[in-house]
Amino acid sequence: MLNLSRVGLVISRLALYQMARSSVAGGVLEIGSFCGKSTLFIALGCKHSDTAFYAVDPHTRISEAGKSNGGLNFQPFTGNSLGELRETLDSCNLAAYVTLLIATSEDARRQFTVQPLKLLFIDGAMIMMMFGWTMSYGTK
Ligand SMILES: C[S@@+](CC[C@H](N)C(=O)[O-])C[C@H]1O[C@@H](n2cnc3c(N)ncnc32)[C@H](O)[C@@H]1O
Repeated sequence: MLNLSRVGLVISRLALYQMARSSVAGGVLEIGSFCGKSTLFIALGCKHSDTAFYAVDPHTRISEAGKSNGGLNFQPFTGNSLGELRETLDSCNLAAYVTLLIATSEDARRQFTVQPLKLLFIDGAMIMMMFGWTMSYGTK
């Protein structure tokens, strides 16, 4: 059976790739890289357009992301998201095209100086409600 939420995810990641590789001037900033699914597509676009790319995430439990992409099997993540992110980028030879900032977006402001931006992708906050179970992501 066709899983529409997965199709939507693939399309949105292809859109990220296209925006990152566009010839518009400016750098790219991602807030909330987690294990790197979106980061991977953006990094490939930045490689193809020679664009500076910064990916920001504290990789702590300020907000516990889940490993499933929708559906009813959402499970809070208990692993090492920074390790998985590095492994993902390394396995595709894309690590050289991303500067990882291990910080919250608030703290990363001081480390991030690239302007203008051609793409700002914020995927750092969400609220999930399932069967009355609420999980909220925050910055503090
Ligand atoms: C939904 S996950 C990101 C998913 C990822 N973009 C992907 O495609 O797999 C949310 C991530 O945002 C991060 N996050 C939450 N608040 C943040 C903040 N203030 N600054 C930076 N990252 C934040 C969390 O640590 C978490 O790893």
